[in-house]
Amino acid sequence: MTKRILTGLKPTGEQLHIGNYFGAIKPFIDLTHTEKDAEFFLFLANMHGFTQLHDPKTLKEYSLTILKLYLAIGINPNKVFIYNPAEIPAHAQLNRVLSCLTIMGTMERMHSYKDALAKGKAGELSVGTFNYPVLMAADILLYDADLVPVGQDQKQHVEYARDIAEKFNRQYGETFKVPHPLINREVATITGLDGRKMSKSYNNYIGLLDDEKTLLKKVKQIATDTKTVEESKNPDECNVYKIGKLFLTPEEDQARRKKYLAGGLSYKEAKEYTFEKMRNYLAPIQKKYHAISDEEVIHMLAKNTSHIQEIAQKKITEVYKKIGFTLS
Ligand code: TYM
Repeated sequence: MTKRILTGLKPTGEQLHIGNYFGAIKPFIDLTHTEKDAEFFLFLANMHGFTQLHDPKTLKEYSLTILKLYLAIGINPNKVFIYNPAEIPAHAQLNRVLSCLTIMGTMERMHSYKDALAKGKAGELSVGTFNYPVLMAADILLYDADLVPVGQDQKQHVEYARDIAEKFNRQYGETFKVPHPLINREVATITGLDGRKMSKSYNNYIGLLDDEKTLLKKVKQIATDTKTVEESKNPDECNVYKIGKLFLTPEEDQARRKKYLAGGLSYKEAKEYTFEKMRNYLAPIQKKYHAISDEEVIHMLAKNTSHIQEIAQKKITEVYKKIGFTLS
C-alpha cells in the first residue's frame, strides 16, 4: 500500500507562527520532495479549533487564513490533498466510536487536558477539550496514515492514536494502520521570545504574516542574559541564536556559531542579523499569501472533498460493520 503522510493545523489564531511552520509543516513539505511515491494529506483542524473558538465569523476567517498560508508556504495542491474534516462526517463518526473504547483515565493523562486544566477550572472545560486526542486519532486512523509530522507537544496524542488503533485491531480484527509520529529533534520544540515553547497562548510567537515593524519589535523583545559584548556566548543557550538559526543555511549557521563562541558579538548585532534573515525568509511567503483569494482556496477544497470523502467513508463503513452498527 502507498505510504501516507498526514498532518493538520488548528485555526485558533490570526495566523500561523514559526513554531507551527518549522515544527510541523516544513518537515511535511520537505517530505513531499523526498518521498516521491507517498500520498500526502493536509487538513484544516477546525473541529479542534472549535474547542476554543466559538464565533463563526472568526473561525471562518482564521480557517481561510490557514488554507491560504498552506499555499503561500509552498504546499503543492496537486501533490497534497488539502481538505476540511468538518465537511466529512466520518471524522465525527469515528470520534464517537473511539470515544466509547477509550477510558477516562487515558484522557486525564493527556497534555492537552492537563494544560487546559492548568489554565482554568476543570468543571468549565468543554468535553471537546477533554477528548481532543480522540478526534485527533480519528483524523489519523481514517486515512491509514503511516507518518504524522508534528511538534513534540503532539507526540503523546499520536501515541494514543497508535494505542487505540492496536486495541481496535485486537478486538475487531485488522482495521487500522498503526501510525508513527514524525518528530524532527532539531525543531521538535521551537523557542518563543521569552525562552518558553513558542505558542499562541503564551503570546510569545513570531507570526508568518508579521509585518516588518512587528518583526523588528518582536526580535528586540527576545530575552537575553546579561553577558557583555566581549564575553563568549554559548549559542545553544541563547534565544536569539535558537530562533535565528531557523532561517539560516547550514554554512551560515556554522559561521554564526563561531561568532557567538568567539566573543565580541553584541546582542544588538545578533538581533539585527536575525531580523534581516527572518524578514528575507518571510517576505516571499507574505507576498504570495496576499495574492491568494478566498475563492481560490474554497475552490481547492471543493476539488478534493469527494476523493477524501470516499477514503474516509470506506473506512467508517468497515468500522461500522465490524462493531455491529450496520444491520444489513
Ligand atoms: P496546532 O495548530 O496547535 O499545532 C500545529 C502543529 O505545530 C506544532 N507546534 C510546534 N512545533 C514545534 N515547536 C513549537 N513551539 C510548536 N508549536 C506548535 C504542533 O506540534 C503541531 O504539529 N492537535 C494538532 C492539530 C491536529 C492534528 C491532527 C495533527 C488535529 N488533528 C491529526 C496531526 C494529526 C495541533 O496541535 O495543532
